[in-house]
Amino acid sequence: MSSEQPGALDRTAVSPAGGNAAIDAAADNFVQVVDVVKKFGETVAVKQVNLSVKKGELFALLGSSGCGKSTLLRMLAGLETVTSGKILIDGEDLAQLPPYRRPVNMMFQSYALFPHMTVESNVAFGLKQEGVAKAELKDRVQTALELVQMGRFAKRKPHQLSGGQQQRVALARSLVKRPKLLLLDEPMSALDKQIRQRTQIELVNILDKVGVTCIMVTHDQEEAMTMAGRLAVMSEGEIVQLGTPHEVYEYPNSRFSAEFIGSTNLFEGHTVEDEPDHVFIETPDLTCRLYVSHGITGPLGMPVTISVRPERIALTSKPPEGAFNWGKGVVSNIAYMGGYSLYHVKLDGGKTVIANVTSLALTEIDPPTWGDEVYVRWSASAGVVLTS
Ligand SMILES: Nc1ncnc2c1ncn2[C@@H]1O[C@H](COP(=O)(O)OP(=O)(O)OP(=O)(O)O)[C@@H](O)[C@H]1O
Ligand SMILES: [Mg+2]
Repeated sequence: MSSEQPGALDRTAVSPAGGNAAIDAAADNFVQVVDVVKKFGETVAVKQVNLSVKKGELFALLGSSGCGKSTLLRMLAGLETVTSGKILIDGEDLAQLPPYRRPVNMMFQSYALFPHMTVESNVAFGLKQEGVAKAELKDRVQTALELVQMGRFAKRKPHQLSGGQQQRVALARSLVKRPKLLLLDEPMSALDKQIRQRTQIELVNILDKVGVTCIMVTHDQEEAMTMAGRLAVMSEGEIVQLGTPHEVYEYPNSRFSAEFIGSTNLFEGHTVEDEPDHVFIETPDLTCRLYVSHGITGPLGMPVTISVRPERIALTSKPPEGAFNWGKGVVSNIAYMGGYSLYHVKLDGGKTVIANVTSLALTEIDPPTWGDEVYVRWSASAGVVLTS
């Protein structure tokens, strides 16, 4: 993965030009989750979560299995009551709204299309329930199907469609109801990798066109990074970090975030100098010190972890000149990935460092091979000091 994350569209610019502070504040807090806790008996599935989602934003909840993503989404949909705390959508307390007035629609992982109904009838179903007049219904169904490019499949049954097409019908069925908030629980999980990547971009474009606010759950970090304007990393019922894909990737705030989003090299050590603009760290992993160009707050000598992304690490055959941030080792593995190669370098101290070297960079050097002695090095701005 490159440090420049592809795709993540800037969907955050929703405040009206020259805007008024009250409107901006309302748009920034379109969805508000306030101190929300959910317990199932002894299990605390969601622990005191606070979250604001902006109007028109595509927000992703990301985390490993069982961390509480679906539970949080189900509470936002009003399908599950909160144990304590509250949820506001467009300023209205969800708990006070009867189910039919909740401005939310949730698309489930399995899509749950009615197998005996045509595509058209599936999409029309919710509107019929609402008693929408025939002419309007026809119009809205057609518009929704065209939006997801399924107009020509209107008369088919779900089993006559591919997985990706079924997913789009399910999306049309959610959007046709014009929800203020669209919730997607693992929307791509039934699709294979290739169609999944295409669908991710399609979905972002459709949501952008409609302008609907959307919260999406996924456990696939690449998917969250490609699609979302902002994301929250969850672990054990809590939000560990929240930010744009770029912020979370470049400035992880904990070991959990650093390892969950992308892969990284972690060095354990303790601080030996701590200034506002830099820190020096001693680590048993290297013969030299680590030098990071940002400060931390904490007592000198405190244990810290330094995260250095593989694409920030350069390979050289000659010893680097600087006195910091390098190590000597032997190439122990090379994974050729097409556009880049992952070099595993076993340092003299025993630690293995992974360097992501682009194929272009490899054409510029004499590419090292298995067993070759090499040096790894990185700049002071490449490291992030983690204290938790
Ligand atoms: N109805 C329920 N009764 C009891 N425990 C539940 C219930 N629903 C969820 N849980 C528990 O709450 C925790 C969070 O579950 P949740 O479904 O929110 O996880 P998730 O993050 O969506 O996981 P996955 O990625 O596997 O879908 C889990 O420990 C789960 O077992
Ligand atoms: Mg789930």
